[in-house]
Amino acid sequence: MAYEIAATGRALPARRVTNEELSQTVDTNDEWIRSHTGIGSRYLAEPELANSELAARAARQAIAQLAEKTGASEEDVTAGLDMIIVASVTGDYLGGVPPTSCLVQNLLGARQAAAFDIQVCCTGFIYGLEIAAGLLAVNPGYKKVLLICSELLSRITDWTDRSTCVLFGDGAAAAIIEKTTAPSSGEGKRGLLRCILGADGSGGGNLIVRRGGSRFPYKPGEIVDKPPHIEMDGRAVYNFAVKSITETIKALLEQENLSVHDLALIIPHQANARIVQAAQKRLALPENILYLNMSEYANTSAASIPIALDEANRAGKIKRGDIVMFVGFGGGLTYGGALVVW
Ligand code: ACO
Repeated sequence: MAYEIAATGRALPARRVTNEELSQTVDTNDEWIRSHTGIGSRYLAEPELANSELAARAARQAIAQLAEKTGASEEDVTAGLDMIIVASVTGDYLGGVPPTSCLVQNLLGARQAAAFDIQVCCTGFIYGLEIAAGLLAVNPGYKKVLLICSELLSRITDWTDRSTCVLFGDGAAAAIIEKTTAPSSGEGKRGLLRCILGADGSGGGNLIVRRGGSRFPYKPGEIVDKPPHIEMDGRAVYNFAVKSITETIKALLEQENLSVHDLALIIPHQANARIVQAAQKRLALPENILYLNMSEYANTSAASIPIALDEANRAGKIKRGDIVMFVGFGGGLTYGGALVVW
């Protein structure tokens, strides 16, 4: 059995905010942001947009792509989804009550699908892939899992903190992972070959939304000057990111007995171009192997890898049989990588 990414989709809010526009309200400038991060713009959600709605839009794109590919109707593809996973740290409701995945299930009209959320910060897509493949492997009745990574980071961004607010954006992307009869190893292998998942909880405080959870809840009568927001030790996260990306790429290649020249593309988490370039230098990766789009979207956390995947997929940059690597890191601190035969 193979666990293949059968279709992808993405959805972005309508409003694109450039570095120049951001510089009108925050003490920053285009030159600093570009030179320190590679970011040029980001998409920010209008106040009335819910995460579940953006997630459902991305999911519908993936459903439409699979319908077109197979000749089935979109209704039939939707009715064939066995599980919906939403990876997000900015779900509609605190603590996931109700889970955003259940809200998406309702929006899609996919009543037969079970649904749950995962919270793995920016590594959500990679954890989600492994979970999806695991579910398909253990349940003989399951055929298709819809994995959606959807973030409204603008809702947990401190817009007065220039060291973090320039980094983040909103966005969503989806992938339908399908169990097929192709082999997952040996000749003609397809789909997910291997995942590496990791975490280092000792670094949890380096990227944190401190208030609003059960550890430090808001108290009745308390005067709150800021809503819950991301605080980050940028240097610590940077060092962790370069190390974990470098080691994960190396380990994945070694474990699958591959060379970097066997890969068509590496799609990294789009946090900061400098992080990726540092890993590229350490591993002497070929010039065009990394797919980067943070200049357009900034860091959309869990959504960043699948947004890039959908872009590359729709632009015809990945062909059947290509080996693609995903690699990411994020709050937790978590990290991970995956190898997929397209
Ligand atoms: N505009 C202008 N100046 C700024 C800005 C800004 N937006 N932000 C910081 N500065 C200034 C600082 O005040 C400082 O000035 P000073 O020297 O006068 O004190 C100077 O720039 C250097 O600041 P540093 O914080 O040292 O800048 P650094 O080169 O470390 O870059 C950055 C900061 C981009 C945040 C970097 O540390 C980084 O990329 N870290 C990893 C961040 C990351 O990937 N986070 C997300 C991962 S997980 C997730 O995706 C949710």
